[in-house]
Amino acid sequence: MILKTEVCRFCESDIESVINFGKMPIANGFISSVDLDNEYFFNLEAAYCPRCTLFQLVEMPDPKILFNQNYAYHSGESNSMQLHFSKICDLLINKYNLNKNHFCVEIGNNDGGIVEYLNLKGFSHLGVDPSKNVSDIAKGKGINVLNDYFSLETSNKIIQSNSKADFILAANALAHIPDLYSVFSGIENLLTDKGIFITEDPYLLDVLNKTSYDQIYDEHVFIFSLTSMQNICNKCNLEIFDVEHVNTAGGSLRYFISKKNVYKKSSNFNKFLNYENDKNLLDTNTYKLFSNNCLNSKNTTIDLFDKILSENNSICGYGATSKSTTIFNYCNIDTKYIKFITDTTKIKQNKLSPGMHIPIYDYEYFQKNRTDYCFLLAWNLKDEIFDKEKDNFSINGQWITHIPTAQILK
Ligand code: TYD
Repeated sequence: MILKTEVCRFCESDIESVINFGKMPIANGFISSVDLDNEYFFNLEAAYCPRCTLFQLVEMPDPKILFNQNYAYHSGESNSMQLHFSKICDLLINKYNLNKNHFCVEIGNNDGGIVEYLNLKGFSHLGVDPSKNVSDIAKGKGINVLNDYFSLETSNKIIQSNSKADFILAANALAHIPDLYSVFSGIENLLTDKGIFITEDPYLLDVLNKTSYDQIYDEHVFIFSLTSMQNICNKCNLEIFDVEHVNTAGGSLRYFISKKNVYKKSSNFNKFLNYENDKNLLDTNTYKLFSNNCLNSKNTTIDLFDKILSENNSICGYGATSKSTTIFNYCNIDTKYIKFITDTTKIKQNKLSPGMHIPIYDYEYFQKNRTDYCFLLAWNLKDEIFDKEKDNFSINGQWITHIPTAQILK
């Protein structure tokens, strides 16, 4: 089932199309060769709302198709994400005086998340995630979990079985949930009077500035900005009182949210709001420029690949990311260009990439079958990967990136 909209998914005003990528498979839909006949496709088109600025997908596959017992994204695969989560735990302790009487809820904690570190330090917590396989992994680590979608109804269940929450946390989770009213009403309901909700997601300004169009895929039904997040909070009796930029997930904005009139607004809040005003998020031309940049990125990526192949060199992909599904299908990149993709996630290995059917192999295969070039698909984890590869692939191999423009990295 497709959830299609012609009006803003939040404020119900008419939306304006930004870019149509055409037929697209499920981003995390890594597929076995026997299942190719049953591959699921939808139309990937992004739009923005000229009234509330919310950047969103026009069509979205039903979340039940995306978040199920075979969910392929496991945050535990990245050391830098683990470090990031542990730092959020430290932030709660050091800046917000988290203590053993507080109760923390994480929305979309995947196979561990921030609550993994709260659990290790003995804090009262609950991780809520709809995908059974990752939720089971988290449970196996001793984390308290609720295998469910977060909604107003779920918030009532949590209040009944536990209590209201002093802290609610989410990292790369809210952008995945189409019913924002239900989620934000649930947050407002679940938070204690002085409770704090800390959430972070890929930042629209990073996507526009870096032409990181691969952030647009089925699970990212929204790409937020401070302006759009403020409009959402305002309607749901919540208020953003602070904001900070973080480098994870390709550039994200972290929002600190509470009930209205509880905390004083920070100077950073005004700084980012002014920055967004200067960037004209309500102007059609901003999005026209982005759309042109995407087309340019597609053409220059293919030109670069053609040049590399014409010199008899080979290319593989590094990291079978959800993002790469948009790149490969939009740019029509298949095994003609990319021999294979390497990925450390077991559930993705020995499967084919969605749509373009590039084989995915483990790290050992990558080491034994060296290519001349490697396309950095997990560009958001560049530091971690380059550190790992400095004495391996990087000795003789060369890296390709498409961020912010297609190029060979020196
Ligand atoms: P991720 O950055 O989470 O991107 P997305 O949200 O678009 O899926 O995915 C990173 C992928 O890269 C993940 O499948 C694990 C893989 N990976 C490796 O194969 N090797 C590595 O060293 C690292 C850090 C990640």
